[in-house]
Amino acid sequence: MKKNYSILWVLLVGILFTQCKDVTSSAPQLGQAPIDSVIAAMTLEEKALLVVGSGMEGLEGNEERQAPVVGETKKIVPGAAGTTIAIERLGIPAIVVADGPAGLRISPTRDNDDNTYYCTAYPIETALASSWNVELVEEAGKSVGNEVREYGVDVLLAPALNIHRHPLAGRNFEYYSEDPLISGKMTAAMVKGVQSNGVGTSIKHFAANNSETERQGLETKVSQRALREIYLKGFEIAVEESQPWTVMSSYNKINGVDASQSVDLLTTVLRDDWGFKGLVMTDWFGGYDPVKQMIAGNDLLMPGTKKQKDLIVAAVTNGILDEKVLDRNVKRVLELILETPRFKKEAFSNKPDLKAHAIVSRNIATEGMVLLKNDNNALPLTDVKNVAAFGFNSYDFIAGGAGSGEVNNAYTVSLVEGLANAGYTLDTELVDVYKKYMEVEKPKVPQPKTFKDPVIAIPEMAVDMSLIEKKAETTDVAFISIGRISGEFRDRTLTNDQYKIGDYYLTQTEKDLIKNVSKVFKAKGKKTVLILNIGGVVELTEVKDAPDAILLAWQPGLEGGNAVADILSGKVNPSGRLATTFLANYKDVAAKDFPGTPVEKPTQIDYAEGIYVGYRYYDKFNIKPLYEFGYGLSYTTFEYSDLKVSREGNTVKVSLNVKNTGSREGKEVVQVYVAAPKGQLDKPVQELRTFGKTKLLKPGESQSFAFELKDKDIASFNESLSAWVVEKGQYEVRIGASSSNIKLKAPFVVDSDVNVLKVNNALAMQGAK
Ligand code: BGC
Repeated sequence: MKKNYSILWVLLVGILFTQCKDVTSSAPQLGQAPIDSVIAAMTLEEKALLVVGSGMEGLEGNEERQAPVVGETKKIVPGAAGTTIAIERLGIPAIVVADGPAGLRISPTRDNDDNTYYCTAYPIETALASSWNVELVEEAGKSVGNEVREYGVDVLLAPALNIHRHPLAGRNFEYYSEDPLISGKMTAAMVKGVQSNGVGTSIKHFAANNSETERQGLETKVSQRALREIYLKGFEIAVEESQPWTVMSSYNKINGVDASQSVDLLTTVLRDDWGFKGLVMTDWFGGYDPVKQMIAGNDLLMPGTKKQKDLIVAAVTNGILDEKVLDRNVKRVLELILETPRFKKEAFSNKPDLKAHAIVSRNIATEGMVLLKNDNNALPLTDVKNVAAFGFNSYDFIAGGAGSGEVNNAYTVSLVEGLANAGYTLDTELVDVYKKYMEVEKPKVPQPKTFKDPVIAIPEMAVDMSLIEKKAETTDVAFISIGRISGEFRDRTLTNDQYKIGDYYLTQTEKDLIKNVSKVFKAKGKKTVLILNIGGVVELTEVKDAPDAILLAWQPGLEGGNAVADILSGKVNPSGRLATTFLANYKDVAAKDFPGTPVEKPTQIDYAEGIYVGYRYYDKFNIKPLYEFGYGLSYTTFEYSDLKVSREGNTVKVSLNVKNTGSREGKEVVQVYVAAPKGQLDKPVQELRTFGKTKLLKPGESQSFAFELKDKDIASFNESLSAWVVEKGQYEVRIGASSSNIKLKAPFVVDSDVNVLKVNNALAMQGAK
């Protein structure tokens, strides 16, 4: 009996001992314990640390921007834009976020490490959008996401989808289009592709951030209708169709309230109206009041400062910030972390298949190029062997834009390299002349020291008529390549007089070069092709007649020269279409207020044009662009037929047939515009409501399309009702090969007004109801 008691005693002591050990040494661990108990175990300091990032390097000594925990900035993936803070006792790892829209941006080399960490530069987003091929964009996303994953990054800070409101906006190259449907569909495709790798995305910059000048705190004044129909629409589509893990709020104010501090934007619209379940992070150092940001539902402040952390702790201590709000945001950060490869301790190779990704980049680059002009079938080249490449850009091709959207790629194939790879023989005298010119000129312009510095091009070289004449004798064709680069932190200009370089306008030297080469070669019965290696639109009005062909190559990523050669040689039939308008005359631009007022240092920018952005404006006010939205040529021809349109219940069914009637295989973009009747609301002449792209059609081959438009897809936003409405009356479906080249039309009737969806009354202009 005595013996039995002692056994019990030993057991009891044992149980107590194990329990005490639990209480003292193992706090709840993320992923094992319920998330709420992890939060309950966190100190206030830890919670505040988790909602601010770990800071940014290079800002030591800057009190305002000092990292939240001294020495905490982690170099987990060097060159990544930021990390969150690890709380090891709760099993919370730091996760890594990195840019950007044209491919992953990390440092290509590391201290004391002989390996390299180059990434693939994909075509810029404007080029991706010009493909109008969502499947291909998703494929590009898959390979970008693979690099994100294989380099140990958890969230890609992309895609970006601000609207091309104005041609001079410095970051347009990072954005898709002037049209919200294209922007939203491309974003959704990219997000799906990237996230299929088990890593996240951050769609940005939310919202109405369409310029760079004085971007921190610039007040965008914009109507609720323009917000809902133009500036928020793409985000709405992307959230609904692809569930991005995160959204990045923008630097600007919207109608008086900082985007990152706006309850209306980040909670009422994003979460309540659209059902977003993920996390919102700020843009880097965006906003000024961390407490308002917490309340607004801006869960994570990036890159994170000590000051923000201290203010959050103080606000909770003083009762200004309800700890429950902080807990809500902490929970979203933890939910994000739980999804990441880093939390799951998934291995990464640091060796993505860069060769395979270069092929993906090249394929989408060719598909995004737009043939703007092709007189007498100048392209594809036939019977061409010896080629003359004019313009220094031919030798110094641009893969992508500058700033956080720049990728550290191992190489960029120049135009001349691409031509040589395709078997053309380059005129060596020109190669030498241009190489020498660049050697002399390049040192004269300031080289960017950090990614914040502008990339300044050298002026174009004036070429003697005698040299052009000589080349017109000895070569079979002339190429002239003109390049442009812009980037974050500043908008573009019309010209850059200081460095005698062009920007939106071509310089006189560039115009002379295009005109002279074209004229001299034409006189010898030879062709001239102008190639545009640009990130944003330029004015071509004065030169467009001179060359036989104009190919808009955009900034096509690291395989650029090869991709251009694929089009020039006819290996690939161009199928890109403009997703942004090329104006004939700058004065016709829709957005009159840019970059805001006062001009010297804008504090406000008025989107007085409302919904009339891009083609919506040019159509409405009968302005004929040089190359309209949706425009682009092919080496073959297509015929559209059998359009059938019917309204069945709340769905408009549209079907048609597209046939390749030419002699080469090719792809066609099918653009479905809808013209709505004017009711209570003013309406654009027509709006792109859906689109598709054929497969590669052989000569004579057809493809049929069947589209379904729900009421939401054809609705307008009625501010006074805070609702999407379809007004009664006669509508017209217009199938276009561009916004002004309508091939087929058919009407449908809506018998009575439809209130499609009521949403919250949010983001009103101050002073408005
Ligand atoms: C840019 C963001 C970028 C972030 C991190 C900011 O300056 O606006 O687009 O993701 O930096 O690099």
